[in-house]
This record gives sequence, structure tokens and C-alpha cells, in this order.
Amino acid sequence: MARIIAGVTSSHVPAIGAAIDNHKMEEPYWKRVFSGFDKSKEWMAKTKPDVCIAVYNDHASAFSVEIVPTFALGCAAEFPPADEGWGPRPVPVVKGHPTLAAHIAQSVILDEFDLTVVNKMEVDHGLTVPLNLMFGSPKEWPCPVIPLAVNVVLYPPPTGHRCFMLGRAIRKAVESYPEDLRVVIFGTGGMSHQISGPRAGLINSKFDKAFLDNLSKNPAKLVHMKHLEYMREAGAEGIEMVMWLVMRGALDERVKEVYRFYTVPASNTAVGHIILENAPRPAQRRAGSAKRRPTPKAKAKAKTPVRRAAARAKSETVRG
Ligand code: DHB
Ligand code: FE
Repeated sequence: MARIIAGVTSSHVPAIGAAIDNHKMEEPYWKRVFSGFDKSKEWMAKTKPDVCIAVYNDHASAFSVEIVPTFALGCAAEFPPADEGWGPRPVPVVKGHPTLAAHIAQSVILDEFDLTVVNKMEVDHGLTVPLNLMFGSPKEWPCPVIPLAVNVVLYPPPTGHRCFMLGRAIRKAVESYPEDLRVVIFGTGGMSHQISGPRAGLINSKFDKAFLDNLSKNPAKLVHMKHLEYMREAGAEGIEMVMWLVMRGALDERVKEVYRFYTVPASNTAVGHIILENAPRPAQRRAGSAKRRPTPKAKAKAKTPVRRAAARAKSETVRG
């Protein structure tokens, strides 16, 4: 059975891609940004997922403004880098996983999420920059990547709740795939930023940090946030963060936060990055500790206020 083992959020700022492509990573401005992903690359190299699902947005590269699908799943065997105006980025072709992608499309559509199935697509910085941040710049990307493009560029984008529930449906789809695959899901974009208009340059670190806290520990607080609140608090482009909720919906209710990084600015954007791991499966836990009684030390630990709070939190659900 396939399984989503972890979720990652990462910025997708085009200037990060330009800094990589033009060999500016060692400049102090960019070093500050890239050094925040050193541990992430180590984590990725250790985790070695079999497949990644990348929730990202296209910037009128694959879809012109004439056609903007709300959710579009890349089911092709490969996705070449798009020409974004200065030629395609010099990054490897993204190899897809057509059988898992087709399975996800089937499962999710039968679960009443009307995805657009895409059999031919180029991918822009929205997808390739997060891959660089997590994998570096290898000759070939180390695993297949299934792109899931979400419309966050033309109003109305989907709600955070819809995104979260889609994440849940994706998780169900992955778990009904017979092959043993370890899947990591990316939510990209964010955090607060506004690129044009009178509030251009807006960054709201207080909002961003609370968003990261809730994403990790209490996503129920985020799923019903209105578009207007994203816009007011996080700027016009802050709405990209709904994509993070697809990722979060695909994970367990309670997750282990293994890494977090936040820096301001990268280009016009606050860069927020988090790695969340699903706990080992109950079945896996049972296999290791079948019917073992808790030790006195474990019992004492369970009585601490933090544990009690955690136990209380466990009973909270994110409702659909
Ligand atoms: C910038 C950030 C984005 O997320 C994006 O899609 C385009 C530009 C920026 O910071 O310039
Ligand atoms: Fe963006």
C-alpha cells in the first residue's frame, strides 16, 4: 500500500530560481535564504521518497489566462520546464508517475472533486523552485513528481476548506494504491506578500508565524479562513497559502514538526518552510510494542500537562 509519509511547504519565488540559475547562491542575501534549506536537503536525502506530489500554481505558463482550471492533476509521463520569458529554466525534465496519478484522479473524482486531468503540461518556477530548494540541483530529479496545479492567480480561487478536503481525498487515494510507495506531498507558495498595488511589499510576520504554528498543530483554525482575511492580513498573493492546506489535509491530524524556517524577505515574499511527518502507523506501533504495559516512567510522563493537552487535542477533528 502506498502511504503519505510527510508534507513539506516551501516558497516558489521566481527570483530564487534566478539566483540558482545565475550562480548567486553564495551572495549574502541569497545565502540567508538557501542556508535555511540545508537541513531540509539532508532530510530529503535521508527520507528518499519514492514519489512526490507537488501542489503548486502555474503562472500563465502552462495555462494561459484563457483557461484557468481550479485543480489540475498532471498525469503525464514527463513535464518539461516551461519557457517563462527568458527561456526554460536549466533544470531537469520532471518525470511524472502516470499510474499513481491516474489512480489519484480516479479516486478523487469519484469522491466528487472535479479535477482537470492534464496529459501534457510544462511546469514553471512554481514547481521547479521548490524542487531545487528540497533536492538541490541534481542532473535528474531523484524521484517522480506528480504536479497538482491550483488556481490562486485568478479570483475566485478555491477555499482553504476545499483544499484541505482535497488533501484528505488525495491521502485516501494514495492509501488505496496497491504498490508500497512512500510519498511526500509539497504545498508551495506563500507566505505573506503583495506584488502590486498600493500595498506592494506588504509582509506580515505575525500572521505568518501564527499560520505556521496552526498549520503544524491546529489546522482546524485555518481551514475556514476567508479569502478576504488572507488578502487583508497576508497581501493579495498571500492566498497562495491555501495550497498548503491541500498538503496538510493529506497528513494525519497530529503530526511531528521536524523542521521550520522563516526568513524575510526573498524578493517580495516572506519565506516560510516547514517539514511535517506523519506518525508511524498504529499497526506499525503495535507490531513493535504489542500489548506491552506502559512503564512507570511512561505513565508519569503521560500525566504531565503537555501530554494531557495533547490528549485533549487528539479528540478535536477538522470538520468537513
Ligand atoms: C514573487 C513571489 C511569488 O510567489 C510569485 O509567484 C511571483 C513573484 C516575488 O516575490 O517577486
Ligand atoms: Fe507565487
